[in-house]
Parts: sequence; C-alpha cells; structure tokens
Amino acid sequence: MKIKLHWKLTLIFCSAVTIGLVIGYFYLVGNLKGYVEHNLENTLRYQVLSGKDLIESRISGQNILTDADTLAEKIGKQQEVRVTIIKRDGTVIGDTELNAEEIAQVENHLDRPEIQEAITKGLGISKRYSYTIKKYLLYMAVPFGMDNSAGFIRYAVPISYIEMLEGKLDKTITGALLLVFLLSLTFTFVISFVVSRPLAEMARVARAMAKGDFSRKPFIYSRDEIGDLAMALSYMSDEIKGKIERIKQEGVKLDAVLSSMFEGIMVVDEKGHILLMNPSLRKLFFVDSSPENKSPVEAIRNPQIQDAVDKILKDKRNLFSEEVTVGQPEEKVLKINAVPIIRNDVLEGAVLVFHDITELRKLERVRQDFVANVSHELRTPISSIKGYSETLLEGALEDKDNVREFISIIYQDSNRLANLIDDLLDLSKIESGKMKMAFAPLDLKPILKRCFEVLEKSIKDKNLSLSINIPDSIPKVIADDKRLAQVFLNLLDNAVKYTGDGGSIKVEVSESGSLVQIDITDTGMGIPEKDISRIFERFYRVDKARSRELGGTGLGLSIVKHIVLSHGGQVWVKSEPGLGSTFSFTIPHA
Ligand SMILES: Nc1ncnc2c1ncn2[C@@H]1O[C@H](COP(=O)(O)OP(=O)(O)O)[C@@H](O)[C@H]1O
Ligand SMILES: [Mg+2]
Repeated sequence: MKIKLHWKLTLIFCSAVTIGLVIGYFYLVGNLKGYVEHNLENTLRYQVLSGKDLIESRISGQNILTDADTLAEKIGKQQEVRVTIIKRDGTVIGDTELNAEEIAQVENHLDRPEIQEAITKGLGISKRYSYTIKKYLLYMAVPFGMDNSAGFIRYAVPISYIEMLEGKLDKTITGALLLVFLLSLTFTFVISFVVSRPLAEMARVARAMAKGDFSRKPFIYSRDEIGDLAMALSYMSDEIKGKIERIKQEGVKLDAVLSSMFEGIMVVDEKGHILLMNPSLRKLFFVDSSPENKSPVEAIRNPQIQDAVDKILKDKRNLFSEEVTVGQPEEKVLKINAVPIIRNDVLEGAVLVFHDITELRKLERVRQDFVANVSHELRTPISSIKGYSETLLEGALEDKDNVREFISIIYQDSNRLANLIDDLLDLSKIESGKMKMAFAPLDLKPILKRCFEVLEKSIKDKNLSLSINIPDSIPKVIADDKRLAQVFLNLLDNAVKYTGDGGSIKVEVSESGSLVQIDITDTGMGIPEKDISRIFERFYRVDKARSRELGGTGLGLSIVKHIVLSHGGQVWVKSEPGLGSTFSFTIPHA
C-alpha cells in the first residue's frame, strides 16, 4: 500500500508528540500530585499548629482543658476540618462531628498511629479509614498543654478532598495536553503538506517527462534543498529535451540517407538478428513485413544471404566481399560488402551493403557476346575473300570462266564487310552518344520518296506492289533527317528482303497524341513468336544463313531501335508467321 509522504510525516510527528505528551503527562501528574499532597500537609500542619495555639490559650493553670467539645466544634467550623481533641491518656474529649453522648462512646485513641507518632516525634501523620465517619482520612496530631502533656489535638481531612483536587489537576493537565496535541497535529499536517507538496509536484513533472512531455516545469518554491531539486529537475528536463531533439534529427538524417540510398543496407546484431533494413533492400527482396529481430533467412528467405551473415559474424574479418546470384524472387547478381562492428574487441554485429550488379554483369556478357559475334561476322566474308583470292592466285586467273564469278563473290563479300563496318560504326556512335543529331521539323513525304528510290530496283525485281498512305493533315515530325531516313531504309529494306515475289508493302502514317505513328506492313514470311522479343538485339536473326545470303548484318533493327529511342519514340512489331509483319514506330511531331 502506498502511503503519501505527508501522511507519513504527520504520523511520525504525531507519534513523537504523543509519546512526548504521555511522558509529560505522567511526569507532570506525578509531580503535581506530590506537590498538592505536600502543600495540603503543610496547610494542615499550619492549621494544626494554630489550633494548638488556640487550645493552649484556653488551658487552665492545672493544665486542664474544659469545654473541649465546644472548642473542637468551633475550630473545625472555622477551619473547615474535623478536629478531635484527645486527653493525654487517649480519651476523646471533643470532636467536631460528634455530640457529647457520641464522644462518651468513642474508644480510646492512644493507639492511633498519628497519636503514637505525635508522642514520639511531636507531630503525627496517618492516612487511613475512619470507622467513626466511614471515610478515608488524612490525620495530623500534635500534643498540647504544658510540656505538651495536656493531650492531643488532631485534624482530619477526607482524602476524597485530595482526590478531588488531584482529579481537577488531572483534568486540567489532560485538557492542556489534548490542546497541545491538537495544535501540533494541525501544525505537523500543515508542515508535512508544505514539505510534500513540491515533492509531489516534482514527481508529476518527472512522470510527464518520462512520457515525453517536457512542457511541464516544476515551480521553484524556495531557496532550499527542495528548490535546488526543482531547479535540477527543470535543467534536466531542458537537457533531455535537447538531447532527444538532437537524436531525433540524427535519426531523420540517417533515415533520409538510408532511404535514398540505391544500395541495400542491412545491419544485424551479434546474434545475426536484423536491426535495420533500408527500403532499397526490402524492395530487392520484396520484404513487406517488418524484418526487425528476425534472422535474415526468415526475413528474406534466402539461404545465401544468411550464409554471408553467418560468415562475417564467425570470421570477424575486416572486410568481406562476395558476389552471390539469387534466384528468388527474380534472378539477380548481388555484390555483398560486409564489415563487422567491433567495439572494444567485442563483436556487436555487422553491416552489409548490397549492390545490385545484375545490369553490370548483363552488360559485360552482352559486350563479350558482341565481340564474339563481331569476330564471327567478320571472319566469314574475310575467309571467303581470302579463299577466292588464293584460288585466283594459284592459277584460277587463267580460267576465264571462273575469274568473273570469283571476283564478283570477292566484291560482294567486301561490300558486306563494308556494310558491317558501317553499321558497327553507326551503332557505336549512337550508343556512345557521339552521333550528332540535328533535330528539325521534317515532312515525311520527301524522306519516304528518297528511300523508295534507293529500293526501286529490288522492288521491281521482286514485283512487289507498294501503297503509301500519308494524310495531308499529318504534321511535320521533329527528327534528324539522315537518321530518320536510316530508320525508313532499314525497315523498308527488311520488308523487301523478307517478302516473297509478288507480295505487297504498305506504309501508313497516322497521328496519335503528340506523336506520329508509322506502320510498315508486308506480306512476307513473318517472324515466329519466340523470336519477336529478340529481333531488336544486335546480330539477332531468325535465320542467320538466309539473312547473310541477303546481305544482312543483323544490326539493322538494333540501329532502328536506338535512333527511334533517341528521338523520344517507340518501336515494336506485330507479326503472323507466313502472313507478314507490321513494324511500327512513333516520332514526336512539331
Ligand atoms: N519484315 C520482316 N519480315 C520478316 N522477318 C524480319 C523482318 N524484318 C526483320 N526480320 C527478322 O529480323 C532479323 C533482324 O533484322 P535486321 O536487324 O534488320 O538484320 P538483317 O536485316 O541484317 O538480317 C532479320 O534477320 C529477320 O530474321
Ligand atoms: Mg535489315
């Protein structure tokens, strides 16, 4: 049970006051009673002695007191006590309370303790029960007369009178002490309230601080320890508030850095449980639930990442770098750089940085493939040229029938080499961004006309029918004249090449939004579904041998794609094997 401080203080003070008062009460009462009794005795002694004087003044020459009873009555009335006058032999001769007959019957008083004491010491005192008047009494007796030998005068006061006095005393003291008690109770209550109130207030402020509310400040009450405490609390509140603000800012900064980082970051504790995982890494592994406190394999379901974490925590190597290929959720090549966090020679965890190098590796592979492809493409015409020229040199020159054929083959192959090299150069220029483009508003009609002039012969040879549909409303396009012509030439050349004799080619231009769309449709052999996605790749051809025979390099569509993209357009194809293909591309208009 919680007892409030001011109740505790009140209780302690009250207990102390109570103990003090009880001790004081007994001490006072004991002392005062003694004093009262003493005082009473003194008064009684004084009265007895003055009674003695009075009696002695009445005594006759023979040391005989006459009329003792009347005297006893008189003195008793005067002094409000019971007076008994006793002869030397112990016979009672006068008493305030008794008449003459009664006195005659009173037994001899010589053996009474106060009389005995009066005989030996000159003054006798005794407290006892009086059977005569049936009360506890205090007796005091002195001898009187000549040589104190005439008799004794005895005074008696009821003890109940003393008790009454003592009772009064008791009541007064108890009342006074009760008053003191009540006053001190009020005081202690007030004092403890005054002491405990600022403490309670400070406790409230501290509790609010713990909950993050720093707006409450303790009121500074006084220039004492409590005031100091309030001031310290106030100072502490400001300090903590500032520190929390700083920590928050640091957190925001760190969060911003981690969130904006392209690389994935994971921090684990010494047991390998995840402390932090930035958004990039979550995205990489499609982690949507909170990964904190889980092990990596639980959070991202990838044993290779778990292995990497285990390794760095076990080896505690300074820097650990590994490339892993993960299959889930999609194939990715990741380079993991990991460092252990070691403070005072104790391993506290590790930081892992994940670089997604999938694209890099893909590009590397493309480049390697490209080199292999280029070498291969160059070797074929070169070995052909080499073979035929050797044959010619070895004597075939004399063979008039073959010379012409051989030389025309050599000529064709060198043309093919030249085409290949031109295409390669174009491609590399476009890719490296070195190809200068002069964008200008262009009319499509003259460009198309020029292209058809180039292809006129082949079209005629193959007996292809041609239709061109360019509505007059088509606006000018923003393009580089030469490059746009290159796009048309490549696409039309393909259409002519891959369409059988008697087929038809159709060019349609339409406007769609901010773009102009050009569709080139042929009735040729078409492209199988599985190849469609790849024909824009370099050197990709559906039928290599056939393409080569037709003088193709396999780079045409790749060049088309690059040019169209650099104009801000798109290129795509729809095809039905055996029925024909439609190559479409878009170009922004003016
Ligand atoms: N109009 C078309 N009809 C059928 N196949 C086509 C057509 N255009 C292109 N192709 C296919 O796409 C491949 C790549 O074309 P391209 O890059 O121009 O190379 P090339 O014409 O030198 O073979 C061609 O080898 C061919 O298989
Ligand atoms: Mg081509």
